[in-house]
Amino acid sequence: MKTEILSILRQTKGYVSGQELCERLGVSRTAVWKCIKKLQEEGYEIQGINRKGYRLVEIPDVMTPSEIENCLWQKRKAEEITDSRESVCTGRTRSKQPDCAEKKESERAGCADKKNPELPDRHILPYRVLYKDEIDSTNTWAKREAEMGASEGSVLVADMQTAGKGRRGRSWSSPSGHSVYMSLILRPDILPERASMLTLVAGLSVAQAVRHDLGLDAWIKWPNDVVISGKKICGILTEMSLQMECINYVVIGIGINVNLKDFPKDIADKATSLCREKGENVHRAEVIAAVLHRFEKNYFRFLKRGNLADVKDSYNEILINCGRKICVLEPGNEYTAISGGINEKGELLVTKDDGTKAAVYAGEVSVRGLYGYV
Ligand code: BTN
Repeated sequence: MKTEILSILRQTKGYVSGQELCERLGVSRTAVWKCIKKLQEEGYEIQGINRKGYRLVEIPDVMTPSEIENCLWQKRKAEEITDSRESVCTGRTRSKQPDCAEKKESERAGCADKKNPELPDRHILPYRVLYKDEIDSTNTWAKREAEMGASEGSVLVADMQTAGKGRRGRSWSSPSGHSVYMSLILRPDILPERASMLTLVAGLSVAQAVRHDLGLDAWIKWPNDVVISGKKICGILTEMSLQMECINYVVIGIGINVNLKDFPKDIADKATSLCREKGENVHRAEVIAAVLHRFEKNYFRFLKRGNLADVKDSYNEILINCGRKICVLEPGNEYTAISGGINEKGELLVTKDDGTKAAVYAGEVSVRGLYGYV
């Protein structure tokens, strides 16, 4: 009910009377008042005036489940309105959402490697957000939850990490108050060797969220860093657990520099934040909701084909390396090449200086620009 009250207050410019809230939600005035109190305790500035009702004055930069779910709900709603307007014009109809129970038992058994053409183009992931002020690492927390049976779509968010993990065994600096640290649990029915493609799906989703929802000129640096003005704003770490050689779960950990203003000297030329680029503070729950909203669409486009065929064009359009001379860093072998886009496996297609072509795989290789990070 808290989430519903919050969304009514959000959608209303002026005051909403207590009576209207009671009628719309079918609850007593005391119940409404209790929810308002709880929201105020969470940091929402809600003005209550006799005979006028309640007005939302300020939304705090909190990442509580209700705040994130509320932002996400609004995004889905806005899209539904656009969709229904479009379908009035085009006569397009939505395809039916598949019921899990409708999945054939035979498909569920064993370690599948299949396309899912029956999946609709649009899909809603059943996100369930959990939040903690402080945690060792949201990825480690997500793995603990997944081991205990947490379902696909569980999202673990923290304000601060004491043992944030980066790629290649590095640590990820995770102070409180400024950034997004989140991990998403997935249980895809795909072969384990395809799981690394999900990292690219996540990178694309973050870049699209930053571009389209925040209006910033974000790009992807292959395979999954998101950059603005040539500097990194997001890192992604994907981890997987196998059972009998099948995927038990995948955890996608996403770290986004949101309101960080200053960076340590050693990374100041390589890292930036959304706030620095936008020139104003950005609401972290909005960022998370935008990423989750983009992700659910890209994820189902991925599952439908079992590869990146349906997302690779969107990815390549905003791939910063595309058409540029880059340095390919293979273990024991470094060479320069012109970068193309990715293929449906997520490999980067490059043309070496001698004209030969290669597809490089992110697991072993990284790339950088000739003169710096991009
Ligand atoms: C990278 O090295 O670029 C990947 C960094 C990934 C950091 C995120 S923050 C949320 C999640 N929890 C972690 O411990 N790591 C990831």
